[in-house]
Amino acid sequence: MSTATENIFQAIISHAKEYGFVYQSSEIYDGLSAVYDYGPYGSELKKNIKDYWWKSMTQMHQNIVGIDAAIFMHPTTWKASGHVDNFSDPMIDNKDSQKRYRVDHIIEAKADQLREAGKSAEADALLASMDQLLAAEDFAGLKQLLADYQIVCSVSGTGNWTDIRQFNLMFSTQLGSVAEESDTIYLRPETAQGIFVNFLNVQKTARMKVPFGIAQIGKAFRNEIVARQFIFRMREFEQMEMQFFVRPGTQKEWYNFWKQERLNWHLSLGLPAEKYRYHDHVKLAHYADAALDIEFEFPFGFKEVEGIHSRTDFDLKSHQEFSKKKQQYFDNDIDEATGKPYGNYIPYVIETSIGLDRMFLLILSHAYEEETITKEDGSTDSRVVLRIPAKIAPNKLAILPLVKKDGLPEIARELMDECKGAFKCFYEEKDAIGKRYRRQDAIGTPFCVTIDHQTKEDNMVTIRHRDSMVQERIPINKVKELVLSHISY
Ligand code: GAP
Repeated sequence: MSTATENIFQAIISHAKEYGFVYQSSEIYDGLSAVYDYGPYGSELKKNIKDYWWKSMTQMHQNIVGIDAAIFMHPTTWKASGHVDNFSDPMIDNKDSQKRYRVDHIIEAKADQLREAGKSAEADALLASMDQLLAAEDFAGLKQLLADYQIVCSVSGTGNWTDIRQFNLMFSTQLGSVAEESDTIYLRPETAQGIFVNFLNVQKTARMKVPFGIAQIGKAFRNEIVARQFIFRMREFEQMEMQFFVRPGTQKEWYNFWKQERLNWHLSLGLPAEKYRYHDHVKLAHYADAALDIEFEFPFGFKEVEGIHSRTDFDLKSHQEFSKKKQQYFDNDIDEATGKPYGNYIPYVIETSIGLDRMFLLILSHAYEEETITKEDGSTDSRVVLRIPAKIAPNKLAILPLVKKDGLPEIARELMDECKGAFKCFYEEKDAIGKRYRRQDAIGTPFCVTIDHQTKEDNMVTIRHRDSMVQERIPINKVKELVLSHISY
C-alpha cells in the first residue's frame, strides 16, 4: 500500500471507531486480534446490508427460501465436506523474525510492489507461476519462487525461510463436560454445510422444485494466521450464502446467471461498475468445477468480496456417503430427449457466498470522503462525509428544530412520530445547525430536515441532501414520501 492509501485507510479505521461503527473486540484488555465489535451505527449498517441481501434473495426470487441453521454441527459434517482434510493454507515462517505468513499473501504483496514499480509483466508472470504451483501443491517449487524473486520478511528483511506447511483453519472445541466422554466439534468455517445437510428437509417441507435455492446468513469462524486489514480478514465473521440446486448438466448456465445476478445486486446499491471486476480461479477448491471472485477496488487494491462457485454434486454426494441417507431428488419434469421424466438424481449446486463484514468494509471505504467545500464568498471549508447508499444508511432522516423553543420541537416531534415507524430517524436540538449537519454527514445520514419559525406560518421545512448539500423547501407532509422514494427496494 502506498503511504497515501495507507493514510486514507487509517483515517477510515479511526472514523469507524470515533463515530460508533466498529470497535476492536475487548479493547479494554488491549483487544483480540482480528476480532471486532460493531457499535450503534455499525450494527444498523450491518443489519441493513443483511436485510437488503435477504430481501433480494428470498423475496425477489420466488424459488429461494431461507434457513437459520446452528453453528455447531455433527463433526462428521466436516469430514464429509472435506474441511478436516483440505481446509488449510500453505504457511511459512521466517527463522529470524519468527513471523508466520501465508505464502500466497507474501507473493501477492511482491506482485503489488512490482506493479507499483511499473513491472506489470513480471508481476503477472509471478502470479501465474504461483497459481500453477499452488494448484499442483508443489511446496518446494513455491519456496524456490520466493528465492527467485528475492521475497523477504518485512520485519527481519531476510529470506531465511522454513519449509512450507499446511495449517488447518478450523477452530475446535469439546461437546459435553470434561468428566464425561467428550467429542471434538468445530465452529463452522462456512455456513454452506448447514444448508446442505438440510437440503431434503427444506425441499420437502417448503415443497421446492429444482431449480431452487436456500439462503442463509450467519457466523463463520476461521483461525486465520495472517489477519490484517481491519475487518477484511477476521477470525469470527458473518457470511451471506445461497446454494442453488440445479439439474446436472445445467450448472454452466446457472453459474453464468448467478455471476451476473450477483454483480447486479452490488450495482443496484449505486456502486460504480468500474470498481468491480471478476477474477476466475485457476486453483479450484476441492468441491468446485468452476469458480470466480467478484472483486472490488478497496483502498488497498482490488480484492475479493464475494465468491461464485460451481460446487458440482460434491457436497450432497459426500453427505449421502457419510450419513448413509439418500440425498436424491425426484424430478418429474419430462426430458424432451427421452420423453420420460428426468427421475432421481443428486442436484448440482451453484453457490453465491459474500462476507457481510467485507461488504460492510466495501461500503465504508467507498463512502468515506474528506471533502473541501468552496463557499459562495470564495472561502473554503471541509467536511468528512459518508456517502452510504440511502437504502442501507444507519439513519435515513435527521429531524432538527432550529431552536429548542417557540414550539419548534413540538412540530419536530410530530414529524418524528409520523416517520419513525417507516424508517430510522434521529432527533437532535443541540448546537448550531451547521454543526448538526456535519455530525449527520459523518455518520452518513442522507437527509436532514430543519424546522424553523417560518414552518409555523406555512408548514414548509428545509430538507438538506447529504451528497449535494442542496437545500430545498418542501411541505412538511411530503417529507416521509420523499425519504421513502429514495429507500424503497
Ligand atoms: N462457502 C464458500 C466459502 O466460504 P470463501 O471464498 O472461503 O467461500 C466466501 O468465503 C466469502 O466469505 C469471501 O468472499 C469473503 O467475503 C468472506 N470471508 C472469507 N473469509 C473471511 C474472513 N476471514 N474474514 C472476513 N470475511 C471472510
